[in-house]
Order: sequence, then structure tokens, then C-alpha cells
Amino acid sequence: MNHFEPRGGQLFCEEVALEEIAREVGTPVYIYSSATLARHYQVFRQALDGEPALAGALIAFAVKANSNLSVLASLARLGAGADTVSEGEIRRALSAGIGPAKIIFSGVGKTAREIAFAIAAGVRQINIESEPELALVAELAEAAGARPSIAIRVNPEVGAGGHAKITTGAVESKFGVSLAEAERLYASAAASPHLDARGLACHIGSQITDLAPLAAAYDRLRGLTLRLRQLGLPVEALDLGGGLGAPYFNSPDPPAPAALAALAARAVEGLDVEVSFEPGRVIAANAGVLIARVLHVHARPDGRRFLVLDGAMNDLMRPALYDSFHDIRPLSPRPGPVRDYDVVGPVCETGDTFARARPLPPLEGGDLVAFMTAGAYGAVMASEYNSRPLVPEVLVSGSSWSLVRGRPSYEEMLARDRLAPWLSAGSITPT
Ligand code: LLP
Repeated sequence: MNHFEPRGGQLFCEEVALEEIAREVGTPVYIYSSATLARHYQVFRQALDGEPALAGALIAFAVKANSNLSVLASLARLGAGADTVSEGEIRRALSAGIGPAKIIFSGVGKTAREIAFAIAAGVRQINIESEPELALVAELAEAAGARPSIAIRVNPEVGAGGHAKITTGAVESKFGVSLAEAERLYASAAASPHLDARGLACHIGSQITDLAPLAAAYDRLRGLTLRLRQLGLPVEALDLGGGLGAPYFNSPDPPAPAALAALAARAVEGLDVEVSFEPGRVIAANAGVLIARVLHVHARPDGRRFLVLDGAMNDLMRPALYDSFHDIRPLSPRPGPVRDYDVVGPVCETGDTFARARPLPPLEGGDLVAFMTAGAYGAVMASEYNSRPLVPEVLVSGSSWSLVRGRPSYEEMLARDRLAPWLSAGSITPT
């Protein structure tokens, strides 16, 4: 359920007409609903709390899904932690009021600087993804005179997810270490005076709509936990990752958080471990839309009809990158026959196509459309390709709304570049 609903022929976000925001901020623009974020967080929370084995488990929101400070601060107030993959994300989480004790630091290629930053910040746990990384974390911990908590990220060799590019648990994926290697690394971490080996982590993919691969992965994690304990090694924490799919309105809805929680509870039953999850998409995706304006409709003699928008692949990359589906809804639908449109942006490549032959009600230049389910992996993946200023973001709460990331002016955009000294400003004269 989300809070983007038509009212009196107009699409609203909570108590605000999306058209009002589009008019004031301009388009393209991302708009998020606080109520939907809160609802999705609470549904996840209640699902975990409904399972005694998971009560109190940490929900570490995957910051990569939506890293806007206001979004993070909204979730922080509900008790969320953060799953981060860079120093930038750790800094965002901290600035949004998420305490270090709730921050997990993951990622296959952490730099020494980032690890040192995470150690100094005192994050809850660093998820180690390889042997060289384990050595580096131990070395940096010793240098800092600290003893950070670590988990070994396991690659359970079960891939899952909505697209090959977002599958992370398959044998050929770059993420984590094999089950056999994990045993060896865990023993070595536990033996290090500079590390507090606390647990295991896994994350097998994103937009997971079938729980069977997750069940298999959790099972393997349970098996490994028992083997490590038999070796006398302490395993106190299991990080079960994220990955649960969000509904995109083009296929049956993915399983609910309660089904995931039931599965996870079975996997940790009797282990007496501290559990964490790293959901991103299921919390943020349907809490956001991207609004774009129709520039014009270009009808070809062959009957093809291009809906040319002012939003483009640089604002919402997912269709170009993963052929992903986003439902497209006119903000104020006109009466009339539904027709097929090829929905495109102005960027100069054919990849800048959001949808082919998408049935939509009649649309004209000046109309506004919403790309639904754009709150996760939307604005965070935007760029300024074609020198299009970075897309702004707005957060709605009830009848209030606020610009939570402004659109840079052209001057600001250009000012980030520097002229090399031998091309000093004075020497540039338009020819
Ligand atoms: N934890 C780790 C270690 C991850 O790598 C990810 C996502 C998550 C948690 C959160 O997964 P979620 O609950 O959101 O599925 N850009 C792609 C998605 C990439 C996901 C990468 N990892 C997309 O737009 O579909």
C-alpha cells in the first residue's frame, strides 16, 4: 500500500496534489511520501516482532536505495539503522541521526581510508568480503588501537533477484567468500586480538520474488553457524541482508515481509543470535515517484507514437540499465481511448526509452506523468548526463512538503568544473 492515490481526477501524495509540487519545483522531480516510508518500515518491523526469534532484530535500511538525508532521518526516527557501502553513506547515515551502533558497513572494495573512518566512527559491524580485506581491517584496527566488530560475508552460492545484474549470491558473483573459505577466515578473525568476530552475513540479490533461494541461503548460514560453534568459535550475530522485492504492478506481488520473517525465524530458531536485515527496495520503492512533463507527442506515419518527456535516463536509470518496468500514470488522466506510446526522454541515445508500446490514456504536450515505484534506486542513480542538472527531490508529510534536494542551477553545475591553468578564462573567447 502506498499514499499516491487519485483524488478528484488528480494524483495526490498524501494531502498534496503532485501537480502543485511539479508547478513550483519544476520537472523532472522525485517526490517521496513520509507516510508510505513509515508504513513500509512498520510492516517490516511488525513482521519481525511477530516472530519471537526475531524480536528486536535491527532493520538496517540499505542507504544505497535512497540516501536523501530527509528520507534517512525519517527512518531514523522510527528506529531504523543503516546498511552502508561507502564512507559517503556512513556520513549520510550519521548526519541523519542514525547512531554508529546501528550502522553496518558492507561492500567488496572498501578503501583503507573508508575502513579507518568506519573504525573511528565505531560502527556496529564491518562485513568482511575477502581475505585481503580481513587482513587490512585487522591492520587498521591495530593502528587505531580499536577492536571493531566484524562479520564474514558469505556467498552461499544461491543467486536470486529480478535481473542478472542485481544477483549477488551466485557462485560467479564478486560478493563474499565461499562457505569453506568462511570457516577458515572466521577462525583467523576470531584468533586476532584486534578484531571482535561476531557473526556472519549474506545478501543474495535484489527484487527477490520467490523465497526459495533465500530459504536455501539462510539454511546454509545456519549450517555454517553450527559448524563454527562446533569448532569452539563464537557466532553471536547473523545479518540476513535485504533483497525482498517490491510490487511494480506488472506481475504478481512479491511475498510479504511476514513470509520472509517466518522463513528467517525458522533459520535462526534456537541459535540465540542477534539478527539484522538490510532491506532497501521494499521500504523505499513505492514511497517515491518521478514526475516528468510531456514535451510533445511525436506521431510517426507508421502509427508509432512517441511520448517525449522532459525526464530522461539520467534521472531514472533503471529501464535503460535493467529493462525494468515502471508503471506510468498521468497526473490528471484525460478521457478518451487508451493508445500505445513509446515513452522516451530527450537524451541522445536509444537507451533513453522508458517503455515501448505502453497503453496509456490520451496525453498532450504539457501533461504530467508519474513513474511509480521510483523511490528506491531512482534519485540515487541519477546523473547529469547530457549536462542535465541533477534531478531534485521533495518529501511530503501530510499536507506539508519540502524540497529536500534542490536542482542545481546551470551556474552551480558549471562551477564544479575547473579550467586548466593553460586554458585560463581570459583566453576563452567564443569563436
Ligand atoms: N545489502 C546489500 C549488501 C546489498 O548489496 C543490497 C543491494 C541491499 C542490502 C539492499 O537490497 P534491496 O533490499 O534493496 O533489494 N540498482 C538496482 C538494485 C541494486 C541492489 C544492490 N544491492 C536496481 O535498481 O534494481
